[in-house]
Amino acid sequence: MNILIIGGAGYIGSHVAREFLDRGHSVRVFDNLSSGLRLNLFPEAEFIHGDILDYTGLSRASAGGFDAVVHLAAFKAVGESMIKPEKYSVNNINGTINILNAAVEGGIKNIIFSSSAAVFGRPEYLPLDETHPTNPESYYGFTKLEIERFLGWYDKLLGIRFAALRYFNAAGYDVKGRIKGLESNPTNLIPVIMEAASGMRKEVEVFGNDYDTPDGTGVRDYVHVSDLAIAHAMALDYTSKNDKSITVNLGSETGISVLEIVEAARRITGKPIPATIVGRRAGDPGKLTATSKKARELLNWTAKYSDLDTLIKTSWDVYKNQQ
Ligand SMILES: NC(=O)c1ccc[n+]([C@@H]2O[C@H](COP(=O)([O-])OP(=O)(O)OC[C@H]3O[C@@H](n4cnc5c(N)ncnc54)[C@H](O)[C@@H]3O)[C@@H](O)[C@H]2O)c1
Repeated sequence: MNILIIGGAGYIGSHVAREFLDRGHSVRVFDNLSSGLRLNLFPEAEFIHGDILDYTGLSRASAGGFDAVVHLAAFKAVGESMIKPEKYSVNNINGTINILNAAVEGGIKNIIFSSSAAVFGRPEYLPLDETHPTNPESYYGFTKLEIERFLGWYDKLLGIRFAALRYFNAAGYDVKGRIKGLESNPTNLIPVIMEAASGMRKEVEVFGNDYDTPDGTGVRDYVHVSDLAIAHAMALDYTSKNDKSITVNLGSETGISVLEIVEAARRITGKPIPATIVGRRAGDPGKLTATSKKARELLNWTAKYSDLDTLIKTSWDVYKNQQ
């Protein structure tokens, strides 16, 4: 199939591009390189340097008979979205409307969208399933939920089929070592730990150790980026073969605490990785875990690489060269 990957030079997008190329699809990457990297591009994929806010350029890039668009382009810093919501409105919401309209104009029938566990907000029960109420606690999460709603309307009115993939905490690097681009100013825990291990930062801050969890630190569901990439290909199989849209959680279904990750990283890297306990961050629940039963049953997807050691080892393979 012909696939347009928007945001395909980014951390997750580059893994998704690699997966589609590995499966023999033809890929065009469209990215403004605001956080994406040329290092994340592959010679087999065509690259267009463009911005989703430039409708003319986007619609030109979307023409030419694509079967699907994978939409990963967004700003994703939860904290920043609470301080500069306008920035998130423009890039995430206006940008998505442009993508949807360019897809309609270009006759693209399938859209695979990077949604997020942030659509749920404070958990009322765990593990989170797709029917859990959606009350985002951040403006970032709100943009993802609104986009899911736009997708629903474009499905109903225009026959676009979508997969909204609600990623939990993405982590790790390509299990075959083919992707090496580091995220700049990461806020996610595992890259922060890797930066501490490789000497790029002094220490890891642990936000709270008084939660109602076994060791008091926050428990999250980490899903390997190679597992996420595979899910995109399976989701496109689903929407294109069944002519149906789908919204699914993608998580490993395992909760791992901050301290467990720090300990595992110390063991695997052999580095001391100083960690300091600081106060809780506003809005952080103690525990968040997913059930991915729906993705297992409907997409035939399971998280194969999302065990703690693979998450850390594949990350360290990339970060250790930074020392
Ligand atoms: N990393 C996670 O844990 C996580 C979790 C849930 C959802 N997501 C979502 O997954 C997607 C990818 O995340 P990521 O971690 O790879 O982030 P990333 O910042 O590495 O990737 C985003 C990509 O989109 C591009 N981009 C942004 N704005 C653009 C614009 N206006 N025009 C063209 N390109 C633009 C960036 O240059 C970058 O290559 C995002 O939509 C994010 O919200 C990520």
